[in-house]
Amino acid sequence: MSAPDIQISPSVLPADFSRLGETVQALEAGGADRIHWDVMDGVFVPNLTIGPDVIHSCRPVVEIPFEAHLMVIEADELIPRYVEAGCDMILVHQEACTHLHRTLSHIRDLGVSPGVVLNPATPATTIEHVMDLVDQILVMTVNPGFGGQAYLQSMEPKISQVAEMISVSGRDIDLEVDGGLAVDTVAGATAAGANVVVAGSAVFKDPEGFAHAIPAIRDAGVSTRS
Ligand code: DX5
Ligand code: ZN
Repeated sequence: MSAPDIQISPSVLPADFSRLGETVQALEAGGADRIHWDVMDGVFVPNLTIGPDVIHSCRPVVEIPFEAHLMVIEADELIPRYVEAGCDMILVHQEACTHLHRTLSHIRDLGVSPGVVLNPATPATTIEHVMDLVDQILVMTVNPGFGGQAYLQSMEPKISQVAEMISVSGRDIDLEVDGGLAVDTVAGATAAGANVVVAGSAVFKDPEGFAHAIPAIRDAGVSTRS
């Protein structure tokens, strides 16, 4: 079922970092709607990854938006640096922000789109009082920290619950999913209400390349937004 309104945001975590510029150009050429930068601090999650300078170096070589998924404790100090690096959206974890309402407002004040991320164990109700502050809600379908994990189908009722919260809010909020998304899992997540799909392994491991992988995942999705 073709779902042209499903956005695909490839994670570059699996990339060969010695060729990152060429890789983001190939992802854009292959139909990526965004680039998903998985930023990890080694504290909130065990892994340590991408600094703002890496993103800044890639900004000029593609046009599509950059979203920074900040898997970091107390991101307030780092947020301006990822905005200056060229990120259009900043996604912070509900679990990692002591003052989430203030942090999301801070992102908006910097002129970019705020998003909030929910770990698998975190209830959707924890963000009910910040629905007016976000342009995007990311429901994790794996536990954060590494790519290549199995999709958690048990998250689909939460995706539906967030979709209902978005509908009630009356605001145009993207519902993103992240972790284990591929042609065999994307239908469940999108049928539950997701309209933005992060994919790392499924994009980088496709033997037919990005231009096959990205449309294949999008076409396997289900449109739920009129
Ligand atoms: C995990 C990251 C995800 C992950 C996605 O902490 O937030 O973006 O890299 O990779 P796949 O699609 O391989 O699960
Ligand atoms: Zn991510």
